Amino acid sequence: MNQVDYLRISLVDRCNFRCQYCMPEGVELDYILKQQLLTDEELLTLIEEVFVPVGFTQFRLTGGEPLLRPGVVELVRAIASLPRTKDLSMTTNGFLLAPIAQDLYEAGLRRINISLDSLDPDIFNAIIGNRGRSRWQQVWEGIHAAYCVGFNPLKLNVVVIPGVNDHEVLNLAALTIDKQWHIRFIEFMPIGNSQLFSDRGWIPSEELRQRIRDRWGLTESQVRGNGPADVFQIPGAKGTLGFISQMSECFCDRCNRMRLSADGWLRPCLLNETHQIDLKTALRTGISTAQLQEQVRGLLALKPEINFKQRDAGTTTGVYTRTMSQIGG
Ligand code: GTP
Ligand code: 5AD
Ligand code: SF4
Repeated sequence: MNQVDYLRISLVDRCNFRCQYCMPEGVELDYILKQQLLTDEELLTLIEEVFVPVGFTQFRLTGGEPLLRPGVVELVRAIASLPRTKDLSMTTNGFLLAPIAQDLYEAGLRRINISLDSLDPDIFNAIIGNRGRSRWQQVWEGIHAAYCVGFNPLKLNVVVIPGVNDHEVLNLAALTIDKQWHIRFIEFMPIGNSQLFSDRGWIPSEELRQRIRDRWGLTESQVRGNGPADVFQIPGAKGTLGFISQMSECFCDRCNRMRLSADGWLRPCLLNETHQIDLKTALRTGISTAQLQEQVRGLLALKPEINFKQRDAGTTTGVYTRTMSQIGG
């Protein structure tokens, strides 16, 4: 059985973007009220006294947009300095990153994944739902700042939407030739904007790989990453190409992660809402961390049965009450 030692922690459910595939404009979400958010202290207690003792050693900070969380640098420092933290990373839209990249690095963050769905500012703006000043440049500066500061690996996430940005796949892939950036093409998932999904559909990763192969050739990397991506490389390129293919492939049997929402719900599978545990309420009602460890251990034991591969067994409805921005991707 795969070891589950990776916790994705959503720091906040709000976001300063409205990506079409995630939290499109016009869709009203019930944001978590401030008093329902895990405080820094509660979060650190859960990490130190519940998750670390049951075997979690890798943590990824997500959102919404994690850089909207007040005091995020201090939180990074606190998690990075725990003796059992093996890996601390973040997934961000990059918009607020440039001025804070150095501080995050010095606080102990080492890996960062940034969304970059287009190299064309107009398309980018349309995707992120921005009708005002272009935000592309600021994200681009955030990516460069992260690169210069030394984040390694630096991964750029592209959700491929047919007819919107799939014509940019070769240009995006070309970035890896002389930069040590890792571009990941993500198959669009029907969670967040099911209307867009039924209108546009998704493109199988293999089709994208074939386009890249036809242009430059493509070799499969011997090293598998730590997550769901299948990793390839243009021969001689400095960076790599990852493909996250949850629609065309099932990687649930190698799933190594659980998710903690900003209001303290522990979710064993991204695509299955069953079996979640409300750790915040438990903590606030005085349940001991030793008892919470037992609950999490119980969930770890059940996880292989809960994983999305079991969807046909009726363990999930396929209808999501929480969208990607509330779960953290
Ligand atoms: P690392 O490999 O640790 O760098 O991270 P990652 O690729 O798992 O994290 P990131 O936040 O960059 O996620 C990229 C995409 O992968 C997002 O669209 C996530 O929703 C998706 N993803 C991450 N984990 C899972 C998973 O367990 N199941 C599914 N279906 N998708 C996932
Ligand atoms: N399908 C695939 N990926 C998505 N993300 C957000 N919504 C979706 C979706 N519907 C990705 C973002 C970000 C990561 C956290 O999740 O692009 O990179
Ligand atoms: Fe915000 Fe990320 Fe969702 Fe875009 S994908 S709206 S940046 S949480």
